Amino acid sequence: MPKKAVKVNNVVFASRSEIAHALGGCAMIVTDRNVKGLYGEIMPNAFAIPAGEKSKCKEVLFDILSEMSKRGLDRGDRIAAVGGGVVSDITGLAASLYMRGIEYINVPTTVLGAVDAGIGGKTAIDFDGRKNLVGSFYMPKTVYIDFSFAASLPRRELMCGLGEIFKTCLLTRKTYDLLVSKFDVAAELQLDILEELARACVAVKCEVTERDFRESGLRRVLNVGHTVGHALESANKNDKSHGEYVLTGILTECAMCGELVKSEYRAELEEMLLRLVKFPRTSAGGVLKYALGDKKNTNGEIEIMLPVAAGEVACVRLTADDFVERYNLAVRGGRGGNE
Ligand code: GLY
Repeated sequence: MPKKAVKVNNVVFASRSEIAHALGGCAMIVTDRNVKGLYGEIMPNAFAIPAGEKSKCKEVLFDILSEMSKRGLDRGDRIAAVGGGVVSDITGLAASLYMRGIEYINVPTTVLGAVDAGIGGKTAIDFDGRKNLVGSFYMPKTVYIDFSFAASLPRRELMCGLGEIFKTCLLTRKTYDLLVSKFDVAAELQLDILEELARACVAVKCEVTERDFRESGLRRVLNVGHTVGHALESANKNDKSHGEYVLTGILTECAMCGELVKSEYRAELEEMLLRLVKFPRTSAGGVLKYALGDKKNTNGEIEIMLPVAAGEVACVRLTADDFVERYNLAVRGGRGGNE
């Protein structure tokens, strides 16, 4: 892992007119139907895919690639992704594949997209029932962030963004202190507070991805809450937002490995998290099936990135049996489970 950050992210906090100007320079814009309905005026002729996680599939990927070909795009062209994480993940993948790679820009319209999915060049589709199984590391040329897009987001989407904000804030002492000081108002989903926290998270995400673009080490800290979170998301067919599953994942993983987490810190985290989510009711078997298929695992052991103290994350590896035992104890202790 390189010690020094290499500047690879180009994140610009932009106005709506700057974004419209940047989109004007793109040969094709990919968005989803909801976003097109709201912001069609800044992207005439955008190619709109159905909204939602189900679109992160090979069929929609090839629809985008066919449209690029039909519109005669060549290697000198640039495309844009305007939307949330689904749109940026699949458009980035299409850009990385078309003619072996053409430029793309990201315009995240969700808080989750702005703090996480839109930054750092991870692209993917879900495949074979597994999240983000097929993808690439492919940096967008520029990420244009305009938090005023968040004003039109429903509560579920804001909660989703809060999940990734919460996770990112755990990664440094400074952002953890900021989270604790602002948590009450953030939990009420006040947009100005979410924006303040989100801006701090953008800096953390850029720093982490610049130190370890290809996730050979440090970048794995961004997976806090994601082992149990992703497994619950798959087991429950995405019935809650990704961010809510991440929050549930952090809550559950800290309870599963409680002996490794500094006790005051754990109590503080649990108190905040229980105001946002509950312990899961999904059975250990249901979670294990997907946790075993997680890309992070090695030698059949399940990897959990565990927040152990403010700004500190440890990598924990559990056998399947240990995972099940700890999960059952955690959810029963938290009155989740199937009781
Ligand atoms: N969303 C996690 C990462 O970008 O590595």
